[in-house]
Amino acid sequence: MKFKNKKILLIIGGGIAAYKALDLIRLLKKHNNEVKSILTKSGREFVTPLSITTLTKNKTFEDVFDKDTDAEIDHISLSRWADIIIVLPTTANFMTKLSLGKAEDLATTVILASNKDILLVPAMNVRMWIHKATQKNVKTLLDYGYLFLGPEKGEMACGEYGEGKMSSPKKIFSYLENYFNKRNLIKKRRIKALVTAGPTREYLDPVRYISNESSGKQGYEIAQALSRLGIKTTLITGPSNLIFKKEIKTKNIVTANEMFEEVKKSLPVEIAVCAAAVSDFKPLKISKNKLRKEDLATNSIRLGKNIDIVEYLGKNNRYRPKLVVGFAAETENLNKNAVAKLREKNCDLIIANDVSKKDSGFNSDYNRVSIFDGSGKIQVIKKNKKSFIANKIAEIILKKLLVNDRSFN
Ligand SMILES: Cc1cc2nc3c(=O)[nH]c(=O)nc-3n(C[C@H](O)[C@H](O)[C@H](O)COP(=O)(O)O)c2cc1C
Repeated sequence: MKFKNKKILLIIGGGIAAYKALDLIRLLKKHNNEVKSILTKSGREFVTPLSITTLTKNKTFEDVFDKDTDAEIDHISLSRWADIIIVLPTTANFMTKLSLGKAEDLATTVILASNKDILLVPAMNVRMWIHKATQKNVKTLLDYGYLFLGPEKGEMACGEYGEGKMSSPKKIFSYLENYFNKRNLIKKRRIKALVTAGPTREYLDPVRYISNESSGKQGYEIAQALSRLGIKTTLITGPSNLIFKKEIKTKNIVTANEMFEEVKKSLPVEIAVCAAAVSDFKPLKISKNKLRKEDLATNSIRLGKNIDIVEYLGKNNRYRPKLVVGFAAETENLNKNAVAKLREKNCDLIIANDVSKKDSGFNSDYNRVSIFDGSGKIQVIKKNKKSFIANKIAEIILKKLLVNDRSFN
């Protein structure tokens, strides 16, 4: 379905493909969308504010210290106004500025101050694109949550052939069509999710506890990714050093029991992602006072089982979420154990991560995962940032949830 009445903020950078921004503006306007634009200093070398303003029927913004704008602060108001921000073309230089978090002109300041999704549409010579510095920037920007479209392979304006060609305005338009349709559907269906994250602590006495190495990062990144898709997400997390964004409703808990209570309170939801490393056992007795060395030396600690939250959700008759996603942290027989867990707990998806490797998994910014559903392995994601993996998982979840909805693809 074609989208309309959307507010698009177009940032036009200093590349030869800048002229294609004019075609995109025409396409967006033809379908009754409003377009405002920011032209970078180098962008002005390629297209004129006059052409842009003629097509958008709006002022072309250029200067962060614009004296013509009354009381409004452009870098804030432009970002709040937009439904999405597109940078076209995104030059190699512009990506470097974004990676560094620069706010040196109107375009970069708007982006840094933005609370909206930002779509980067790169265009550059193939050597510029494959340069290690540019590829490092791409990774950083993906980690920051920027969206990318292209570049594609093809013949470039400089006459060379390779990856670096900007996606066509038509392709950008279809991307936006899909983007807005997905969000409309999520909004219409009022999709809610709960995500558990982090470790739990099971106390022996006021100062000692049993816990594990989980940092809460993967769960937090998934909560962010779902939330960015417009899904109303509640994050239930054990003790963690992470700083959680205010936009995500976060419930802090300490023990597995507390996590279970919060999970029950958050139902019903359509999606439950259980990324927390919940302690399987807890000391049967919690001493009111700090145990003395002698007590600990002579007594063994008696343990009892904690409730299995994933299983509770998977087998919940009354409020079973449509999708229950479990995690399997394994050090051996990863695939076999993950599939067994999926069946045992009646999950729809299992994300298996190999925690035997020192450079990923628990307490790391990186992960490597295999994703299984009832029919077998559906995707393997090699070592990558947890934020990147979270976006992939969120996409798979959404696809699975909306698989029968015709307006979604
Ligand atoms: C004719 C010409 C074409 C250019 N095309 C590109 C391009 O396609 N991609 C790119 O990354 N840089 C390109 N550049 C270099 C950029 O203009 C330069 O890095 C500039 O500082 C980018 O400005 P921005 O950060 O505002 O986008 C080109 C330069 C010239 C003179």
